[in-house]
Parts: sequence; structure tokens; C-alpha cells
Amino acid sequence: MDRSLATPAIKTIQQHILERQRVHHPDATGEFSWLLGAVTLATKIIADQVRRAGLVDVLGSTGDTNVQGEDVQKLDIIANETIARSLGYRDNVGIMVSEEDDEPRILKELDAQARYIVLFDPLDGSSNIDVNVSIGTIFSILQRREGVAAGKVMDHILQPGYRQIAAGYVIYSSSTVMAYTTGDGVHMFTLDPAIGAYRLSREGVVMPPVGKTYSINEAYYSLFPGGVQKYLEWVKSDEAGGYGLRYIGSLVADFHRTLLKGGVFLYPPTTNAPQGKLRLLYEANPLAFIAEQAGGMATDGRQRILDKTPTALHERTPLVIGSKAEVDRVMSFWHA
Ligand code: AHG
Ligand code: MN
Ligand code: MN
Repeated sequence: MDRSLATPAIKTIQQHILERQRVHHPDATGEFSWLLGAVTLATKIIADQVRRAGLVDVLGSTGDTNVQGEDVQKLDIIANETIARSLGYRDNVGIMVSEEDDEPRILKELDAQARYIVLFDPLDGSSNIDVNVSIGTIFSILQRREGVAAGKVMDHILQPGYRQIAAGYVIYSSSTVMAYTTGDGVHMFTLDPAIGAYRLSREGVVMPPVGKTYSINEAYYSLFPGGVQKYLEWVKSDEAGGYGLRYIGSLVADFHRTLLKGGVFLYPPTTNAPQGKLRLLYEANPLAFIAEQAGGMATDGRQRILDKTPTALHERTPLVIGSKAEVDRVMSFWHA
């Protein structure tokens, strides 16, 4: 018996992308998989640092405050610089935008070759680093806008989310899992530390259409819009019956659970933060692309996240994302 066929196929993320490109984008030049290779390399390095947090000096704060007004953790900077270095060696990336950088990094002037813009939350859930709770990296990939001068950097960056050509995240947890989409479904890969490669673990992920889990920081209840408060009263009522609350405080972890098990994650506006806390370009947009590709939905309470035209690099947006039936239910109370 030919034993080689008995073992499950080992499909790496590069193989998967090239295979899908041959089928769906035959004219692709393979440069996209070259670009995604920089992202996978960077996240493998970050995963190694995360796994050794506590053994090497990566814990704690740098003492600095970033453009978001947040206390910067050492691992935020390590992740940010790792990504910038990995992308810097890819000649098809022109601009990098990061939650940790006040301004965009111009790696190369945009042209027919350097035509990609990569946007990152290098480390999501930073407040959880020191207590060993799941954290993540979120990325979004745009192409330069044809016919727009290379120097009009913000015009190339501030594109609505439906123009993303790819998006994904990595969750550093009991295992390191990368999920990505290029617009033909959501696919997941688990990092195999024995061979240092991401191996295909789920192809064509579909978000359950319903899910009795809601995810929100209820500490801000009194600051939420009245309609959201009404939803929170309903979801705990006998009429709703059987909802559970899960809130990890790392968007990537709360979203990953919602994608796999269904339910709804909410980060609504508050009286203190009328645009909510989460950032549009490198948190809401990429996860909204993934959610929709898996059959879910994502809104800011008024409109589809992917239809929003950004006006600023680090602009924030309210976010309600998850199973379509659950998001619709939230909206039915929010705008009753
Ligand atoms: P980041 O660490 O990249 O700044 O993101 C933190 C975000 C997100 O991960 C999470 O959903 C949210 O902050 C939690 O906010 P609260 O602590 O206000 O609930
Ligand atoms: Mn984040
Ligand atoms: Mn972050």
C-alpha cells in the first residue's frame, strides 16, 4: 500500500494561496503570495516572542503612550518592528499603516511594482499580554488607487473596506492560528512548530447563522445608547432564553470564537467615546471582510462597516459583528 497517500496532505499557506490563485485568479503573478509570505514570517516571529513572554524581557510597558493615547507594551513595539522589517524586504509593498505609528510608513513610492498598502494592528489585546490571555495580530491589504498620484498617500490609504484585496488575523493562543480571505472564502491555518509552517486546518469557514453568545464590556452599560441597553435587558430575559456572555477583552479572540461558534460581538459608542474604541482601518475593516466572507455581517449601528469611507488614519468606529440573525436582533433594539 502506498503509505504516502495515507497521511493527511500537508498544505501550507503558500501552497494554498498559489493553488487558489491558479483556479480563481489565473492572471495573478504570485506576487500576492510573496507579500503574504512577509505577514506569515512576521507572525511566526511574534508567536515565538509571545510564547517566551516571561522568560525574555518582552513583558510590561515601555512607559510610552501611542497616538491612541494608550500605554505601549514592549510586545506592541516588537510586533510592530517585526512586521515593518518583514514587509520592508517585499518590493511590492509601498505603504505600511500601523496602530502603533502616528503616520504611515512610506517603504517605497507607490508605482506599478510597489502597489500594495498593508495596514496592521500589530498586537491586539495588549492589556492581556502580562496575564497570559490570547492576543492577536490583524492585517488588511489594499492596492494603490489607479490614476491617483503616488504622493497623495492618504487618498490611497483612506479607501472603503470593500476595496480590501485581502484581510486576516493571527491569534496567539493554545495554538497559533491564522485566518485569511482574499474574497473567495475564509481559510484557517495552524502553525506547526515542528516544521515552522502554517498548515491548512479549515477551508471555507462558515459562521453559524445564529449563536446564543453575546460579547460586550457590560461595565459601560450606563454609557451605551438606550437601544443597546434595551438589547442587553432583552438578551438576559426569559424571552431570549439561554444566551451566554463571553468577553475576553482581546478583539481577535472574541471575534475568533464568534466566527467559529456564532453569536455577536459589540463595541458600541458610549457617551465618553461617541465613535467607540475600535479602529476602522486595521481592526473593523479586516474583521468585517472575514465576517462577510464567512456569511456573517458587520455594522457600525448605522451602515455596513465595509461601506464606510475613512476620513482619518486612526479613526474609530462602533462595531457590531457576528451571525447575521444576532446582528439583526441587536439592530432591531438599537433602532426600535
Ligand atoms: P489593542 O490592544 O490593539 O489596543 O486593542 C484592544 C481592544 C480590543 O482588542 C478589545 O476588544 C478592546 O480593546 C477591549 O476594550 P475594553 O477594555 O474597553 O473592553
Ligand atoms: Mn486592537
Ligand atoms: Mn494593538
